[in-house]
Amino acid sequence: MRNVPASADTKAHWESVFQTRQPTEVSWYQPHLRQSLDLIHEAAPAEDAAIIDIGGGASTLVDDLLAKGFRSLTVLDISRKALEVAKARLGPQAGQVTWIAGDALTAALPAQRYDLWHDRALFHFLLTPEDQARYVAQVRDAVKPGGTVILSTFGPQAPPRCSGLEVVRYSPDALERAFGGTLRLVSSTTEQHQTPFGKTQEFVYCRFVKADQRGRFSPPQDDATGDVSRRLRMTRAAETSPL
Ligand SMILES: C[S@@+](CC[C@H](N)C(=O)[O-])C[C@H]1O[C@@H](n2cnc3c(N)ncnc32)[C@H](O)[C@@H]1O
Repeated sequence: MRNVPASADTKAHWESVFQTRQPTEVSWYQPHLRQSLDLIHEAAPAEDAAIIDIGGGASTLVDDLLAKGFRSLTVLDISRKALEVAKARLGPQAGQVTWIAGDALTAALPAQRYDLWHDRALFHFLLTPEDQARYVAQVRDAVKPGGTVILSTFGPQAPPRCSGLEVVRYSPDALERAFGGTLRLVSSTTEQHQTPFGKTQEFVYCRFVKADQRGRFSPPQDDATGDVSRRLRMTRAAETSPL
């Protein structure tokens, strides 16, 4: 079962969300994506690393990455309105970012381009094996071998719906399994997100490394032994301050 039968309907849903609500009024709003920023910091990309935020919406992650000096940033979202909100907020700095208005499942992304792929709360909307496979194929094709993939979804204790749409809830291990050997889990964090309406939603954040061209996983720079994911894996409970 899909949330909606076609990309046009997915787009209509999200355009309507961003046209009718202020960015601070959506359930997933955070002034700063602190858990994402922490995992990006952990991955330690170079300032010229190619970073893409998939389903970035109107979030401030791009603002914070620009402020940290990252120079090769792309934000992709199916909602043009969401991207307009982010661009307007950034003002002239928006010109330093590549903006892609498109569907994450079908957008033509440059091959093996991105050092770091970030997605907070898009992947969990993909309900069918077909759509999940399309997303995995995009990661396989667009992320550099050995690159970093940071994914955040609703966790096992979260509500079954987000933005009125059914979601798949993942533990870190389940998320790793969903990528069928393409990604290996390095670390994960759980967050009890407080929505602007006073509800709590469990988000899981995971940092993965993508396999290299031979399907192998090289150790991250801070791990000399090669036993990458199991030793480094950690789960921290973190809470955002109420809005
Ligand atoms: C729950 S919001 C999260 C937004 C942002 N990542 C954040 O954390 O604030 C989900 C975002 O994914 C976008 N989206 C949903 N389905 C998409 C798709 N198939 N392709 C691209 N963007 C999509 C929506 O427009 C929306 O901006």
